[in-house]
Parts: sequence; structure tokens; C-alpha cells
Amino acid sequence: MRHVISPLDFSVEEIGQLLALADEIIANPAAYAHKCAGKKLATLFFEPSTRTRLSFEAAMLELGGQVLGFSSASSSSATKGESVADTVRIVQNYADIIAMRHPKEGAAAVARQFARVPVINAGDGGHLHPTQTLTDLLTIHRLKGRLSHLTVGLCGDLKFGRTVHSLIRAMLRYEGVRFVLVSPRELQVPAYIRTEMEAAGADFVQVESLEEHIAEMDVLYMTRVQQERFANVEDYLRLKDVYILDAAKMALAKPDMIVLHPLPRVNEIAHEVDDDPRAVYFRQALFGKYVRMALILTLLEEAEARPGLARAELPAASDTLVCRNPHCITTAENGIRQRFVQTAPGRWRCAWCEHDV
Ligand code: NCD
Repeated sequence: MRHVISPLDFSVEEIGQLLALADEIIANPAAYAHKCAGKKLATLFFEPSTRTRLSFEAAMLELGGQVLGFSSASSSSATKGESVADTVRIVQNYADIIAMRHPKEGAAAVARQFARVPVINAGDGGHLHPTQTLTDLLTIHRLKGRLSHLTVGLCGDLKFGRTVHSLIRAMLRYEGVRFVLVSPRELQVPAYIRTEMEAAGADFVQVESLEEHIAEMDVLYMTRVQQERFANVEDYLRLKDVYILDAAKMALAKPDMIVLHPLPRVNEIAHEVDDDPRAVYFRQALFGKYVRMALILTLLEEAEARPGLARAELPAASDTLVCRNPHCITTAENGIRQRFVQTAPGRWRCAWCEHDV
């Protein structure tokens, strides 16, 4: 039995199988309409969501299963101070599989340590969002016919955008992928993602101008500036409208480029772009439902075939080092010990949120 915390929890081959299953479901939904009869999905959303939560719920319903859960921390015992660890210990008695979103980074990894049923990370703060990545990969694969040999532009808030971190991690494993990272200096990808790109020998550039680079791209992944993760409002106001994709910029792009966006959109894509056939973000949201169907089905079948605990091996707890990421789950939960992975002599990375100390 497995949990899905990072896109790397699947091998490239397994991702291929999930996407193929999603294709099959799209082609023949009736054949899957009762596959999860008698099973329940719990959606634990400590942070707001439209697409992710509803697409998880729609996915389970279309598989013939049932759903329960909450859609904000304020309607759960989190307001009384209940921890993530205790919440999953309770909810696993009520559901066969859990999809969880939480504002703290590493929250899903904590849930994994305490759950006897599969946990899917539906977004943990600014860290990762693996099911959005499956959505993105299915979209790219269906519309471009491949996941390798592509120039992928990622534009906007690359620092706090968890969808960006997950997509880069996943696409690093395909051959011939070139990344064009377009952001203001303040919103460049975090160090742990940059290190992973360097370690993988990735071909990438960090640039500030979208106009100057849009012509190179096969895929453009636009993102919202993540207002809720900024420490101060002035920085957000200064950076929020730095990139606006409009018809004039689209005119510079390849005729077969595709524009993705995890949504919600704020100002970063002008509405005039919606009618351009290269704008695929609304279809992308539909693909997200199908890929979540494939994921739920696969995890439940695996859990049935191989029941048992799947606790990750954790590094030893530390009494001396403290994670300084203000968004780390260790800043919010008492019972969670500080744990670090050594990445180089004298260099340590938090085992929960993956920020370097
Ligand atoms: C994204 C998220 O929640 O990280 N949305 C989504 O899941 N579709 C992107 C965002 O909120 O900007």
C-alpha cells in the first residue's frame, strides 16, 4: 500500500500506466462506473479549493464510490487545536482513502506516518501538489503526444507555486526537456528544486522576460502569484501583475504551443486569450478529474492486493537542529519531532518540508 506525497512516489513507468488508465477511462467511462462501489474517499481540506476538492469528489462518485469530508479548517476540529496526526488517526476509521490539503509544508508527510489507509497530498503549503502534476502530465501527453523533447516555460510565482515544484520534479525524469523559468528575482524556484535540477543535469534557464522567451516554448505553464504565502502585502502588490499573458504575447508564440494554468486565474492571463485554441487550461481541469479517477482506482486496488502499513523510513530525530521555514508543519504541530536528511557535509534538509537548514 502506498501514499502519494510527491510526484516521485511514482516511477516514470507507473506514471505512464496511470496516464494510460486515464485515457481508457476517458474512452469508456461506463466500464468504470462501479469500480469503487462500497468504498469511501475522505477529502480533508484545511485550505480552500474548488477544482482539486471537487474533482476528487467527482472522480470518486464517477467510480461509484462515496465521499465525506470538510472543505475548510474552520469547519473541522483544527479550530480547537487538533493536529493533523490525530485527524488522520480518526478519519481512517471512516474512509478507505484520504485526500488532504493543508497550508503547512510537510503536512501530508506527517499524515502518511499516522494513516493505515492511502493518503494523497492534495497540496501542502507552497511545497508540492502531485495530483495537479498528474493532471498537467495527462494534458501535455494528450495534446502534445509526448512528455519528452519539449521546451517547457514556467511563468509567475515559481517560489511559492507548489504546482511548479511538483511539475519540475516530475518532468526532470523525461529526456530532452528544457525548462525556461520566467519569474521576478524574488519569486525564483526554491533552493531545493534548483539543486534537484542541477543534480539531474537539467537544461534550464532563469529569466525575467516572458516576451523574449515565449517563442521557444512548446508548453507555457502560467501561474498565479500566491498571495496567501507572502509575509507582507506590499511585496505581493508589487509583484502580482508582473506577467500578463495577452493576445500580443500569444502572437509571438509557436502556432502549436499550449498554455496550461492550474487555476484559479487572477490577472495573469487576459480573458481574450481564452478563445485562442492554444489555451487549454479549462480542458486541463477536466483531465484532472479523469487522472484522479485513475489514481484512486489504482491506490485502492493496490491497498486491497497488498494491505499493510506503508510508513516511510524517517531519519533520526534531532534535538539540536531546528527547521527555520516559517511554513513548515513542525512550526504548527507539537508532536512532530525535528528530522533532517544530510544532503552534503554540514548541510541538512528538513525531512518534512524539504527546506535546507
Ligand atoms: C493550485 C494550487 O492550489 O496550488 N490550484 C489547483 O490546485 N488547481 C494553484 C493555485 O492555487 O494557484
